[in-house]
Amino acid sequence: MATTDLFAKAREFERIEQLNAARQIGALPFFHVLEGPTLPVVEMEGQRRIMLGSNNYLGLTGDARVKQGAKEALDRYGTGLTGSRLLNGTTGLHVELERELAGWFQTEDALVFTTGAQANLGALGTILGPADTVIADSGDHASILDGCLLSRAKMRPFRHNRMDLLEKQLIKAQADGGGILVVVDGVYSMEGDVAPLPEIVALCKAHGARLMVDEAHGFGVLGARGAGTCELFGVEADVDLRMATFSKSLASCGGVIAGSAEVIEYLRIDARQFLFTASAVPAAVGATLAAVRICRSDEGRELFAKVLANAAYLRHGLAERGFWVLPPARTADGSEITTPVVPVVVGDDWKAVFLWKALYEAGVFVNVAIHPAVPPAGALLRTSVMATHDRAVLDEALEIFARAKQDFEAEHGPLPSGAK
Ligand SMILES: Cc1ncc(COP(=O)(O)O)c(C=O)c1O
Repeated sequence: MATTDLFAKAREFERIEQLNAARQIGALPFFHVLEGPTLPVVEMEGQRRIMLGSNNYLGLTGDARVKQGAKEALDRYGTGLTGSRLLNGTTGLHVELERELAGWFQTEDALVFTTGAQANLGALGTILGPADTVIADSGDHASILDGCLLSRAKMRPFRHNRMDLLEKQLIKAQADGGGILVVVDGVYSMEGDVAPLPEIVALCKAHGARLMVDEAHGFGVLGARGAGTCELFGVEADVDLRMATFSKSLASCGGVIAGSAEVIEYLRIDARQFLFTASAVPAAVGATLAAVRICRSDEGRELFAKVLANAAYLRHGLAERGFWVLPPARTADGSEITTPVVPVVVGDDWKAVFLWKALYEAGVFVNVAIHPAVPPAGALLRTSVMATHDRAVLDEALEIFARAKQDFEAEHGPLPSGAK
């Protein structure tokens, strides 16, 4: 009997064809090779390029104190810990980092994972079970959706930031009979918009649901202490679980879940993504700890202000040059909520790739977000800034954007303007 070749999908996967087509015309926006550190200007494939495509929001990957933190950890603990946190993989650095992070979040406790994705998988896969219901925003990060699937809880998604639909799902969830968790990103990674947390908190309270917020893109940026979207909205005490990653503002790699002592202790002894994987390399933990200390000092406030000022500058500059830039979210009193993510709407996947190519060749690196990272026909150039970008470099990037737009439009027709 003929069997199906399990590997046929690897040959027939439609994206492979698209990838090869883009590669052939030199327009593949992915897997480009860095030749030095992720700084405001980088060396990439033999050319100087302005880096507008990283999550190094505070620019701390190049900071001497953060590098020193990594070096000291390397010298003291060696290259790897070769074991899980439970067994031989916990150092004094982890204990200190968890203490600092709980202090920063103002929660009873915090648990450090090897990556942010594992923190989401571990928290959701453990705290939720098949008898529970999880309600997730359709724009939530992939690791949140994977954590929900892993838990086998009843999944009730709602359309991005639609509070009326969240409420409907909460009403249905109450009839499901188990525990209820709502999980949202604080800042959405591609569009850079924020979750309306005060409304979400009120709805969760009204319907007896717990709330978890992924602060990957808000931690180390938003709020006076830089504690993230929950701090910005003044709802820290109303949010049950907060997740953050070290791979953005904290210039390293790793993740954390912060919350009540009882839940964190439960995760510490039952989260499989915490127990059955190796602890992060010491250098990553040492760098994170040094970055956390900078963020929690007075200098932190200056860095948070600088990255947001740079984002606003880039956003206005791009809009002035005729790009369709998604507008910032607003608080209930109407003030703008700037985040470090500045998304330029292109719409069509191939057009986004061609515009990316024009920018890359002229010396600017940005990220391309195509489906499924964004909704179909919602392709974006996802640009993001660092606190350490200076205005001269941002102005140079804006001029390159303006020229790339002209050249692109001469060949491919007008880019969408956002005008109704
Ligand atoms: C919103 C969000 N959550 C979680 C993660 C995962 O974090 P990490 O890169 O530390 O695995 C990311 C990173 O891509 C993210 O953007």
